[in-house]
Amino acid sequence: MTAFILPSASTMASHVDALFHFLLVTCGVALAIIVFGKLFFLFRFHRSRVEEEKSSYITGHTVTEAGVAVLLTIWVMFIFWWGWTDYKALRTAPPGAMEIHVTGRQWSWEALYDDGRRLTNELVVPVGRPVKLLMTSKDVLHSFFVPAFRVKQDVIPNVYTSLWFEATKEGEYPVYCAEYCGDAHSAMLAKVRVLEPHAFEAWAMAYELEQEKEPSGEGESAKLEGLAKQGEALFAKSGCVACHSLEGKKVIGPQLNGIFGTEVELADGQKVSIDENYLRESILEPNAKIVKGFAPMMPTMKGQLQESEVTALITYIKSFGGKK
Ligand code: CUA
Repeated sequence: MTAFILPSASTMASHVDALFHFLLVTCGVALAIIVFGKLFFLFRFHRSRVEEEKSSYITGHTVTEAGVAVLLTIWVMFIFWWGWTDYKALRTAPPGAMEIHVTGRQWSWEALYDDGRRLTNELVVPVGRPVKLLMTSKDVLHSFFVPAFRVKQDVIPNVYTSLWFEATKEGEYPVYCAEYCGDAHSAMLAKVRVLEPHAFEAWAMAYELEQEKEPSGEGESAKLEGLAKQGEALFAKSGCVACHSLEGKKVIGPQLNGIFGTEVELADGQKVSIDENYLRESILEPNAKIVKGFAPMMPTMKGQLQESEVTALITYIKSFGGKK
């Protein structure tokens, strides 16, 4: 019997299941009342069982009709309120969640951690810590689906979408692609490996030790590591540093210190908040949104940066703080 029950391995899983079971049970009860009620009347008032006479003409019963309408409305609004509450919880990652960048492509998943670790078709996460996935696609639409966590999110080229979960049980849980994406869509499988916190630390440490064996760069940016450090190198190499200050000074372009999560006013007076999608667009399509007081003169980085390099630049800018 347990083979038919989906494992429940995240903090949100029981919430999603509770609403599902509520819908299943209340709809089952409504179905039974309607079907058995009809059958009862069919049987009870069959003309072989009642005296042959013309039935009275029924014109309606306002109190009953209004009562049913009110009860059904309360039931539906209750479901709406419940669904909305859970939906908001599912969409809003708790502050301080560990971030992992996930890229879908035909036909595999790639995970990139802030420290530079790269995994294919596998995600390793600790128990009891919220994890936020920032996802994009290299080609077509995909969808990241972890049934055991009851989370699913479309993965779309050229923008970031996100999803969060907090695993509650050790183990390995399958990841499916839930959006038809070509021939090998059904083979686009991955797994989430959930480890006890100390096992996760050991796993992360093993990677760091491996990295230390390799010759490291100059010591000046020792506080940065992994992706942010790659971002720093790219920031210099791609020439960003010529126009953008990270010390709060206004040069040719807007300064980038502590801007993440804040709001900025554009040339047309519109206000936008600086998130991953805004930074991504500003790198790849610099003229799409021009900050008030600046000229549209930044060249596009489109075609010059790989997906993971865009991620590294954004991680570097985020490392200078701001409102997360
Ligand atoms: Cu990727 Cu279906």
